Amino acid sequence: MNLIETKFRLARRMSQLGTEGAFEVLARAKRLEAEGRDIIHLEIGEPDFPTASHIIDSAARAMRAGWTHYAPSAGLPELRQAVAEDAGKRRGISIDPSEVVITPGAKPVFFFAMLALVEPGDEVLYPNPGFPIYESMIRFLGAQPVSYALREENDFDVSAAAILQKLTPRTRLVILNSPQNPTGGVMASSEMAALAAGLADRDEVFVFSDEIYHRLIYEGEHTSLARFPALRDRVIILDGFSKIYAMTGWRLGYGVMHPELAEQVIRLMINSNSCTATFTQIAGVEALRGDQSSVDAMLEEFRRRRKVIVEGLNQIPGFRCAQPHGAFYAFPNITGVGIGSRELADALLNEAGVACLPGTAFGEWGEGYLRFSFANSVENIRKAVDRIKTWVGKNAGGASG
Ligand SMILES: Cc1ncc(COP(=O)(O)O)c(C=O)c1O
Repeated sequence: MNLIETKFRLARRMSQLGTEGAFEVLARAKRLEAEGRDIIHLEIGEPDFPTASHIIDSAARAMRAGWTHYAPSAGLPELRQAVAEDAGKRRGISIDPSEVVITPGAKPVFFFAMLALVEPGDEVLYPNPGFPIYESMIRFLGAQPVSYALREENDFDVSAAAILQKLTPRTRLVILNSPQNPTGGVMASSEMAALAAGLADRDEVFVFSDEIYHRLIYEGEHTSLARFPALRDRVIILDGFSKIYAMTGWRLGYGVMHPELAEQVIRLMINSNSCTATFTQIAGVEALRGDQSSVDAMLEEFRRRRKVIVEGLNQIPGFRCAQPHGAFYAFPNITGVGIGSRELADALLNEAGVACLPGTAFGEWGEGYLRFSFANSVENIRKAVDRIKTWVGKNAGGASG
């Protein structure tokens, strides 16, 4: 549909704005449930654990104590300080609170950084398959999307060479996401070093480093591109509380960026949200400074589920599933089933009662893959695998393992 031709005569830019498949599939799954169908949810990317009670208590106390008014648009000084300490310590860098902007969820960090930096016609490099909001925002701003591929044969690692060879004089921004949604790939620190070296003398190129899954990593350690001194001023880190502290519905995230850019993002906050909810920010300080055992326990549970889902999916004829190294997504290759990604995802939802996402919800190079979130119980994951196996057995006679 051409949005500008609807009776509301929407602004032309709206025809460029994309969406996120996970929310669409969730809505369809909920409709089926309302009709009485039993659906196993492996589509949405949010931890199924409750937020830790010490964080909830802190928010409740904050509300009673009167933290119910506007806060500074940049975020409460206490939380900016706590983020600077925690984010710096975890990345081995020193961060000043003036580099930190607190936002309602992490997504606005991307929205605002793009608005502040990218002009129509600028080229922006982004991962494909990748988080769909990247391409959506690039197009929305009239910039030129230039994708770089993440390949199963490279264990879905990002290759510095694949990025560097796509740089042109018009490149303005490179988007990185490690650990990665949807593949679970983690960028090797040697590749980051190569990328940092390749970008060292390209002063006008910024890097947007989406590190929202940085503590959900199963082997080795997270490296941030911000560790490389030549790029320190030009790296914008996105991070937040949604995935690590199971706080998706609280809407609490942050960006770390050069103070001059932070000033511009704060102006965008003033023009849009005014500030992030105040009592939520108090709870954020508690999340960062308080007991971390719930984060450790969640990671261990995800590790257990990763094994169950990868082994289970690999037993389905036509499926081949690599081990994700981070985040909580399995991204099996399903080309052996002989059915396209979207058609298969639709059939699994409608006929097998398993909600998952087609790889194409993350870009055209996601064809031939499905994404399963393992933010669900081991019991439900096993049940989902059984349902898929039964469906494939009945409907994809040509499947080869
Ligand atoms: C790669 C990536 N970045 C950012 C976000 C957004 O996080 P938030 O819910 O805090 O806005 C998500 C959430 O799905 C994500 O997968």
